[in-house]
Amino acid sequence: MSTALVILAAGKGTRMNSDLPKVLHPIAQASMLEHAMRSGRALDPARTVVVAGHGADLVRNAVTEIDEEAEVVLQEEQLGTSHAVDQAREALQGFEGDVVVLYGDTPFVSADTLERMVAARTSADLVILGFEAADPGRYGRLVMQGDSLERIVEYKDATEAERALTFCNSGLMACDAALMFDLLAKIGNDNASGEYYLTDLVELARTAGRTVTAVACDEAETLGVNSRSDLARADALFQSKARAELMELGVTLMAPDTVYLAFDTVIGRDTVIEPNVVFGPGVTIESGALIRAFSHLEGCHVSRGAKVGPYARLRPGAELAEDTHIGNFVEIKNAEIAEGAKVNHLSYIGDASVGKASNIGAGTITCNYDGVMKHRTEIGARSFIGSNTLLVAPVKVGNEAMTASGTVVTQDVEDGALAIARAKQENKPGRARKLMDILRAKKARLVKGSE
Ligand code: UD1
Ligand code: MG
Repeated sequence: MSTALVILAAGKGTRMNSDLPKVLHPIAQASMLEHAMRSGRALDPARTVVVAGHGADLVRNAVTEIDEEAEVVLQEEQLGTSHAVDQAREALQGFEGDVVVLYGDTPFVSADTLERMVAARTSADLVILGFEAADPGRYGRLVMQGDSLERIVEYKDATEAERALTFCNSGLMACDAALMFDLLAKIGNDNASGEYYLTDLVELARTAGRTVTAVACDEAETLGVNSRSDLARADALFQSKARAELMELGVTLMAPDTVYLAFDTVIGRDTVIEPNVVFGPGVTIESGALIRAFSHLEGCHVSRGAKVGPYARLRPGAELAEDTHIGNFVEIKNAEIAEGAKVNHLSYIGDASVGKASNIGAGTITCNYDGVMKHRTEIGARSFIGSNTLLVAPVKVGNEAMTASGTVVTQDVEDGALAIARAKQENKPGRARKLMDILRAKKARLVKGSE
């Protein structure tokens, strides 16, 4: 049975108080919409249709970046959840299989839950995802009759007795596509909000002699985001789950609450993460590495046995081979650091390669940008770059070469050579004492003059 995802993402999200459409706000460095689309991938969908409205252009761009094959349809006016799903009618014309409706602002539904919904379709025509709410608030209530779902009543339209129910509607559902679009056409807006309610599908399906059931999931999975505080809460929830999973996999987090992970952070067994480390997207760390305190990593790969930080910054394209050392106040960008190489203090290595076992002295800078273009620096194996060397790219330093401290390298340095490019030192015997005497005398005259 093939599946089409319809992801509702047209809402304004007024309470976010933002120029950015709500579904594009990030949790652990991926938009809520991306989280929802990634969850949906568990069903291996044949089609994905995102319903956009507010900020549709931004949403369309984001969708294409996440999944080139996903389609975006426009809901010009937000007339309700049923009206929203109906916007996918044309795109899914002739589609045979199930439609699974997801919300773009409900990012945490699990693969397991989606699979259970689809599995439940073998015994029911329409499957609704519900949850036991600790505080049911304004959620729609599921009115059950045994295993069968009788109807969903929106809070605004509910009686006192119905409001007392705690089994609530997540909004997610699975239904045969043909049946769903057939029934959607019959939904009106005669209710307390004057909106077209997707929830009315339940009663319509039953009236048509179809079976309807509800599958339950943990409330945390249906957590919706409506405000910045909800966003922070959702992020915190993501973080604590992701940290627990990493520790389960054998990663040491010395102070778990201070480590900020991205949605896709991968860390190998026996790696130790010290306190206050931040992960941007696209980081892979292999086993047995050490990431010391206050480091910031994104888009990089750290191999076994590498030591990073404290206070290091690894930017996109940083590739650290085994047993490399990247020390304090060092920034690495788009650069390969080969096995056993060390960049231990106060350096910038960008658009570069550093060969095996080379040592980069304190304060070394690759001058990679000329104001218009970026250029590469290549350093060979077992070379020694003296402290405060400036490497003006494009430039190459060979194997077993050296640069003297303070050298500005503007020409290639061949294998085994020593490059020195700095003013020659001259010592003047006795001159320091004389100078001091002159300066002290001058100060004494000034002090006297001001009395
Ligand atoms: C909906 C459900 C309610 C459920 C709750 C769970 C209905 C009628 N009610 O209510 O039973 O308990 O979700 O959170 O379905 N959207 C559009 N276009 C629209 C309207 C909504 O794309 O015209 C999108 C929103 O962006 C959002 C989702 O659909 O992602 C849900 O809409 P929302 O207005 O939040 O519905 P609720 O009133 O919360
Ligand atoms: Mg809502």
